[in-house]
Amino acid sequence: MKRVRTAVFISGRGSNLSALIDAARAPDYPAKIALVFSNKEDAGGLAVAHEAGIPTKVISHKAFASREEFDAAIDAALRAAGIELIAEAGFMRIHSEWFVKRWHGRMINIHPSLLPLFPGIKVHEQALAAGVTESGCTVHYMVPELDAGPIIAQAKVPVLPGDTPETLAARVLAAEHKLYPEALRTVAQKLAARKNIQPSP
Ligand code: GRF
Repeated sequence: MKRVRTAVFISGRGSNLSALIDAARAPDYPAKIALVFSNKEDAGGLAVAHEAGIPTKVISHKAFASREEFDAAIDAALRAAGIELIAEAGFMRIHSEWFVKRWHGRMINIHPSLLPLFPGIKVHEQALAAGVTESGCTVHYMVPELDAGPIIAQAKVPVLPGDTPETLAARVLAAEHKLYPEALRTVAQKLAARKNIQPSP
């Protein structure tokens, strides 16, 4: 079975990364986590990758004068590693339009709300302030506009009386860990069915 070579992008603790790595251990899983990329060398998720024996690449955005130059360096690293699909999981940099278009249809992200509600940051604060009775998470294709791409899958959780951003975040995160592996499976299966899955040079 062809496994789609996938890079997971992180900036932090990497609990979604863990969930994806666990899922990808199944013999019939259509994605191989071939690289973990981070813009931060102290991202906790890098240790998760090392433990699992997955190659990592760190490039600090601070070393570049523009988003385009940073993204060009990322793109070169991805090509060197033969990456075919990007799964962002808590990656805290906005990409240039050039990069997003280059990886069109091959770059997905998980966001901790029921998009189109509550894009951006402080998501659980936004949900609680709006008084919604349910929230959840969304896996979507990435487009140049933030958190606005076509939705691949969503999972809902209740918002409970007395919830704080932290308690809601924990409930949503547990749902993320189930949703993301399923969504990546769906996307990778579709890509694997295509003949030429490398992005055009
Ligand atoms: C998750 O809530 C994800 O939805 C958001 O950032 C968080 C990353 O958490 N984009 P982790 O690093 O996967 O634990």
